[in-house]
Amino acid sequence: MATPTLLILNGPNLNLLGTREPGIYGSSTLEDVEQLCASAAGAHGWAVTCRQSNHEGELVDAIHAAAGTADGIVINAGAYTHTSVALRDAIAGVGLPTVEVHISNVHRREEFRHHSYLSAVSDAVIVGAGVDGYRLAVDHLVRKLTAA
Ligand code: DQA
Repeated sequence: MATPTLLILNGPNLNLLGTREPGIYGSSTLEDVEQLCASAAGAHGWAVTCRQSNHEGELVDAIHAAAGTADGIVINAGAYTHTSVALRDAIAGVGLPTVEVHISNVHRREEFRHHSYLSAVSDAVIVGAGVDGYRLAVDHLVRKLTAA
C-alpha cells in the first residue's frame, strides 16, 4: 500500500522566507517549513511532497498533479490567495481536502489581504500562527483523513 501523502504547496515569494520581511514572516526558511511538514507528517507515518513556485500556472499544474498522487493539500498561495480564481477552481476541480495557511494574520494587515479566493473551497483556514500553521494544517489533514 502506498504511503499516504500530502502536497505542501507554497506560492510566490515564499522562497524568500527567512530574509523576507522577518518582522512579519519570521526567520524560518522555506526549507525549515518543508522539514517541519515532513516531520509532522512522518510522526503519523505519512509523507509529504513539497513544491514552491512564483508562477500561477505552475501552482495550478501542481494542484492537478496532486490528484492521484496525494491525499490532501496544504497551500499557502501567497499573494495569489487574494487574486486567483484559477487556483480556487483548481482546488475545487481536484476535490482533495485542502487547508489554506497564512503565516501572518492577514486580517490585521492591509484590506486587500482580507479576502481569499481559496477559503470557500478549503476545509480549514489557518492564519497568524506563524510557520506552526503548517504543522497544524498537516495534523488536521492527517486526523481528518485517518478518521475518514
Ligand atoms: C501570506 C500572506 C499574503 O497576503 C502574502 O501575499 C504572502 C504571504 C502569509 O503567509 O502570511 O505572500 O500568504
